[in-house]
Amino acid sequence: MKAIWKRWFNKNASAYIDSESIEEMKDAGVPRHVAIIMDGNGRWANKRSLPRVAGHYEGMKVVQRMTRFADRVGIDILTLYAFSTENWKRPETEVDYLMKLPVEFLDKFLPELIEKNVRVNIMGELEKLPKHTRNAVESAMNETKENTGLVLNLAFNYGSRAEIVQAAQYILDDYKQGRLPEGPLTEEMFSSHLMTKDMVDPDLLIRTSGEIRLSNFMLWQLAYSEFWFTDVLWPDFSEADFIEAIKEYQRRSRRYGGL
Ligand code: FPP
Repeated sequence: MKAIWKRWFNKNASAYIDSESIEEMKDAGVPRHVAIIMDGNGRWANKRSLPRVAGHYEGMKVVQRMTRFADRVGIDILTLYAFSTENWKRPETEVDYLMKLPVEFLDKFLPELIEKNVRVNIMGELEKLPKHTRNAVESAMNETKENTGLVLNLAFNYGSRAEIVQAAQYILDDYKQGRLPEGPLTEEMFSSHLMTKDMVDPDLLIRTSGEIRLSNFMLWQLAYSEFWFTDVLWPDFSEADFIEAIKEYQRRSRRYGGL
């Protein structure tokens, strides 16, 4: 089948993946925490002579579908890199649009997230967000805080180095205030000051669009994660691609430095 048709078929048919193959995949053990670097929105739009923001809008729709899929297959945490601390360097119109996306996304999708018992978490520096963005994400976190199903963890205005420096600062403050016991700092103590303090580390990292780098994403937490890269641009990413990543993950043998 020609690549373009294959992609069209995958995207449109994969929402109908039969329950039997989902059950099979679940039995083999799905990753508890999947983190995704959603890349390629701009290139997707360029290819179609559309403005870059059209790629982001399409990308938002894929966020919705992959959240449904993660919930369906029983993933515990889905972390999505939606805006990095470096993304402020983009043209103002694009940044403004990206700041409006969570508002639109939550406007449309929050009732379904609530119905599905999904807990929304935002990982990043919320203080620096425009008021409308901050209000939307804070109210979604608040409205879903008691939910016990999938955690949809949106990394928004997130940068891993800043997160690590912030953790070091919190630890210094805690020592000064006597909130930490005397004695050596442990990895567990350090982890508990990161933005992911209540989460297991990602088992699987996915990056779309053919780029093979971490771009300041979860540098501490990804120490032992399995990485899966695909050339597929994020707006084209489908359930079939997600399944391929999970199946590859299931074939890997994780040794954490042991034998
Ligand atoms: C990287 O692609 C993508 C982003 C900087 C934004 C990602 C945002 C979304 C997928 C939508 C977010 C949805 C919610 C709900 C907040 P790029 O623009 O760098 O693509 P390029 O490398 O092809 O230019």
